[in-house]
Amino acid sequence: MKARAYCSSANLGSGFDLVAVALNTFYDEVAVVDYKSSDKPEVEIVDIKGPYGEEVPRELNTAKQAVEYMLRDKKLSYKVCLELWKGIPVEKGLGSSAASAVAAVLAVSKVLGVELSREEAISYAGEGEVVSAGTRHYDSVAASYLGHVVVLYNLNPLKVLHIKPPVDPLFLIVLPQVKAPLRKTSIVRSIIPRKVPLEIHVRNSARLAALIYGLTTGNLSVLGEGMFDEIVEPAREVYVPLYRRVKRTALTAGAKGVAISGAGPSLIVLVNEEKAVDVEKAIREVYEDEGIAVEIKQARLAPPAYIVD
Ligand code: HSE
Repeated sequence: MKARAYCSSANLGSGFDLVAVALNTFYDEVAVVDYKSSDKPEVEIVDIKGPYGEEVPRELNTAKQAVEYMLRDKKLSYKVCLELWKGIPVEKGLGSSAASAVAAVLAVSKVLGVELSREEAISYAGEGEVVSAGTRHYDSVAASYLGHVVVLYNLNPLKVLHIKPPVDPLFLIVLPQVKAPLRKTSIVRSIIPRKVPLEIHVRNSARLAALIYGLTTGNLSVLGEGMFDEIVEPAREVYVPLYRRVKRTALTAGAKGVAISGAGPSLIVLVNEEKAVDVEKAIREVYEDEGIAVEIKQARLAPPAYIVD
């Protein structure tokens, strides 16, 4: 039994920890290769393949963590052996750790015949995020699990909106080839301001309203305006090379919105079809100017995680 889950881009500017999109650019797969009764719940990652397989550990692994949590919570005493295929670049802000956890929870729950509500599946997969980010957060796992667009509108208990916009927006995913610091997500979460002046909170809330309206109606201009953030991004941009310059250049070249993708250093750029080539070229020139290699991919919204075979 093998499950596939797509990468994601969380936050989209004003939607920190609450809004995410699943993207069809990259995916991970997790296969259950063996399972048997055991005196305690246990998960062994027996192999990790794929283009990014060497970049993830077998022990402190989000898929392992998520499934062990599910087995304990559901009181299932099994030893489960998993094989991972990592197709999502690691530590780039594309929800790589979340996708592995989602695919693992989906594959194991199907094999063991465990019925999970979507909130249960998302919260089990979110346990995996503790390994990579130091805290639980559910935006990336919700997007990988449900596909398309997700909005978390309550965190405890978890309540999730799944939105399939009436138009399929086109994004550019910009991956600067820079090395992220060790435990990057944990670091860039720790530097976010804990207190925010009221006027900034109000402006950010206005952007969040625009973001959700744009995603729900498919109004790309309003959506692009929602992709601004004055709270999290200003604190994080030191870890995102050339962010301000790239953002300014992309918007001048016709992009509708630009944001740091998840915890960075990748960016997500909303574009019109007819402007995509110009915007991509303008962004590439900025990085080349500074001698930073960059990969840029076009992305559309991805479907939910699913069983492959
Ligand atoms: N919302 C999360 C963050 C996504 O920005 O830290 C990264 O996992």
